[in-house]
Amino acid sequence: MTKRIGILTGGGDCPGLNPAIKGVVYAAEKFGYECVGLAEGWKGLIEGKTIKLNKKISEYFTEQGGTYIGTSRTNPYKIEGGVKKCLKNFKKLKLSALVVIGGEDTLGVATKLYKDYKLPVVGVPKTMDNDLSVTDYTFGFDTAVTVAADAAFRLKDTGKSHRRIMVLEVMGRHAGWVALFTAITSGADFVCIPEKKIDVPKMMKKLKESYKRKKFAFVVTSEAAELGGLGKNGKKQELDQFGHVILKDRGMGAQIASLIEKNSGIETRFAVIGHIQRGGSPTVFDRILSIRVGMQAARFVHNGNFGKMAALIGNEIKGVPLHKATGKLKTVDKKWRDMMEILF
Ligand code: F6P
Repeated sequence: MTKRIGILTGGGDCPGLNPAIKGVVYAAEKFGYECVGLAEGWKGLIEGKTIKLNKKISEYFTEQGGTYIGTSRTNPYKIEGGVKKCLKNFKKLKLSALVVIGGEDTLGVATKLYKDYKLPVVGVPKTMDNDLSVTDYTFGFDTAVTVAADAAFRLKDTGKSHRRIMVLEVMGRHAGWVALFTAITSGADFVCIPEKKIDVPKMMKKLKESYKRKKFAFVVTSEAAELGGLGKNGKKQELDQFGHVILKDRGMGAQIASLIEKNSGIETRFAVIGHIQRGGSPTVFDRILSIRVGMQAARFVHNGNFGKMAALIGNEIKGVPLHKATGKLKTVDKKWRDMMEILF
């Protein structure tokens, strides 16, 4: 009987998921396995819902955004009987391994299932936030920054024309990588990231100087940046099944723009790019990276190398223990913050 690999994609989608699935499917078939998609992340395993996958179906996945097999933020450990159902359906669907494509939350579940039940899992890192430890980059990030940088160039044009200060709010949850890379690539005057509380007097000084010089200034802020007392909006914070604050109504772009206008008297506008960063065709970098990590995951399954994640280390895809990748978030570190001090 042909051995079967179940593939699931969990958490926020990002460009690269489809090519990663293609990588797994192509390599798995080469090694003599068949693949099946589990619908909408861990939910698919809990409910035993599958989606047919093969080389023919995934042939055109390389340039496609989104995920063909769907995603969700379902956490089996937070649903009554969820873990039991996962284990039961793993057997019922006659799976011999699971390839789990996700960020810290989705892979965190894979880590636990491997640790608690020795479920044969292999992880594939994805997230536009780029906040997974051990891997140098996650696919989805390059595309997200490319899209945000394009938005930045457009905002700068209109800002310059109206002699305004413009603020762009980008995603990235609790890590400032997307904001920082967008700010660097678009030549912003100031950047606000969650790892460093905003120094308002410093920001105002910088913006006033920039505005004096060029009658325009540009700020990039992460959705999770902290403005001291202003950051939390005073509202009760909604959490997802993994206990993360849902940042959608936080409005950092709006808060920063209003603060800048009040403190400078200069007309200021903001834009929130949000989920636009998660859609569309992956960049060349993300296409190659996602196919490579997907293929390597299938190889790990074939070699019985379970409990590992296919990580990009330098220019090689290596196997690292899943628990190392999910134990701690990779946030903007001192080396990058020092660079930030010089640039902004
Ligand atoms: O983790 C990816 C991400 O896009 C974060 O940057 C963002 O905070 C969050 O997902 C948004 O989640 P949702 O799609 O559930 O609104």
